[in-house]
Amino acid sequence: MQQKWWHDATIYQIYLRSFFDANNDGIGDIKGVVSKLDYLEDLGVEVLWISPHYDSPMDDNGYDVRDFYKVSADYGTIEDFKTLLSEARKRNMKIITDLVLNHTSDEHPWFKAAKDPSHPEHEKYKDFYIWQPPKMVDGTRKKPTQWKSWFGGPVWEYVEALDEYYLHIFSKKMPDLNWRNETMRAELKTMIQWWVDLGVDGFRVDASNHLEKNWSFPEGDPGQENFSSLPKHHEYLQELGEEIFLPNDLLTIGEAGGASREEALQYAGKDSKEFSLLIQFEHCWADTDDSNHLTPGKWAKGTVDWPAIKKSFAKWIKTYENEGFHTIYWHNHDQPRVVSHYGNDGQHWEKSAKMLAMSLYMLPGIPIIYYGEEIGMTNVDYEHLEQFRDVEVFTEYQNFINNGASHDTAMQALKDRARDNARTPMQWDDTTYGGFTQTQPWIDVNQNKDTINVKAQQTSHSILSTYKALIKARKKDDINRARATFHDLDDPETFVYETHTENNDYLIIANLTENTVTYRNQVPLDDYELWMSNSEPKQDTLEPFDTFIYYKKRT
Ligand code: GLC
Ligand code: CA
Repeated sequence: MQQKWWHDATIYQIYLRSFFDANNDGIGDIKGVVSKLDYLEDLGVEVLWISPHYDSPMDDNGYDVRDFYKVSADYGTIEDFKTLLSEARKRNMKIITDLVLNHTSDEHPWFKAAKDPSHPEHEKYKDFYIWQPPKMVDGTRKKPTQWKSWFGGPVWEYVEALDEYYLHIFSKKMPDLNWRNETMRAELKTMIQWWVDLGVDGFRVDASNHLEKNWSFPEGDPGQENFSSLPKHHEYLQELGEEIFLPNDLLTIGEAGGASREEALQYAGKDSKEFSLLIQFEHCWADTDDSNHLTPGKWAKGTVDWPAIKKSFAKWIKTYENEGFHTIYWHNHDQPRVVSHYGNDGQHWEKSAKMLAMSLYMLPGIPIIYYGEEIGMTNVDYEHLEQFRDVEVFTEYQNFINNGASHDTAMQALKDRARDNARTPMQWDDTTYGGFTQTQPWIDVNQNKDTINVKAQQTSHSILSTYKALIKARKKDDINRARATFHDLDDPETFVYETHTENNDYLIIANLTENTVTYRNQVPLDDYELWMSNSEPKQDTLEPFDTFIYYKKRT
């Protein structure tokens, strides 16, 4: 496999709005990231993935782009962005940005022209989006199909002036682009090249498996197979890869939930012309309860299916073995905080956060750490619906109530599962707003900032120190490129695997649960030394969340 600059890197995802507010208006910004580069360098991460920084009305926190060429006034200026690039470069860090290509904001000039029949370029821009006439049923005007958007509610929005509906698979302020239109694609490519010329080192490509739609618009409810993973979207991605991504040696990460093995290699196999890496989320919702009809789907919290998670890791590592690079991550800005989700954010908070770190970050692949994960930030404990900010929350809350859920049941589902859980301000210290800002922030700081914060973790045994040590070891021992062998994938209580690097063999033994479990180690420990742990080893017993990493030098 040809050597690439990102092969031994650790990536860190920054949710710009919530990382650090440099000008004290309550919103995280680019200058805020610049001022925390030393912190990030000390953490050991080398690639920063920044969530959308473009001009936007912020219906979906910037995933609704109004002007692709402009930095959002919330986040700063293009000069600030250039400073970020140059300051990162001084520290040998790379910057990748989020690239939102599936849709624009409804306030983007293209869409304004598209929906306005009197606009001089109406015809041109109308075809940049996806329109369908109403379906006439018994003389009444109906939506073209019953397809449902990812945020709940219909995918179709009516525009009276045209007597047509436009398609939006996310919020109605995010009309989907028509990727079959070559002029539209050319415009996007010019824009992407513009950011590359400015100096960005790569992209995370948002919603990349949704670019193509089923243009015969068959009936379906929810009908998501008509706008997900249709074969033709690979053609569009190859076009971007061949014309921009590959010639510029970029690091590109595709987002394609639910990808199969074959598709995964198509996206990011070593000979792929599409992406460098793929995010597919298979392990991210391994605790849903299908019998819950009040708050269904991802909102239904059940027991964690650890064998499913372990098998998913094993499967994906195997898929990319000698065929490319796997990505390892617990979650991003679209899932709950992992310590609340798969660990324990009460009595065993610290121990379980370390367990989760040691279990995941000894696996081969390219790590993506989500901001705040390194200090064990948790889900929110909001008391009022009004404290939430995510556009998705409000449609779904109404759906839960319509399903018959009580307010309390609906609130609990939000507190367990809403995306806002992972979007609260970074907890730097224990001051009023957690050191994120000096004023009321755009979303409430988690109440536990007094105990969970960066300042409190400047000690040698903190969660933060655990992350630093793991990141350092990955780099030193090239764990990204290691091989792993797994034990007992069916066991729901423990996670045991070996990681073999060029020089060392590691053995990882974790108790995934809050139970004390009997565990008889199958690997003779004679030649091993204990390298890292969150507890004292005991004979044949693992206390709640006990995790041990042993190593031995290969002779
Ligand atoms: C991706 C993003 C998510 C966003 C959606 C629409 O899934 O991660 O946050 O809402 O795309 O752009
Ligand atoms: Ca600010």
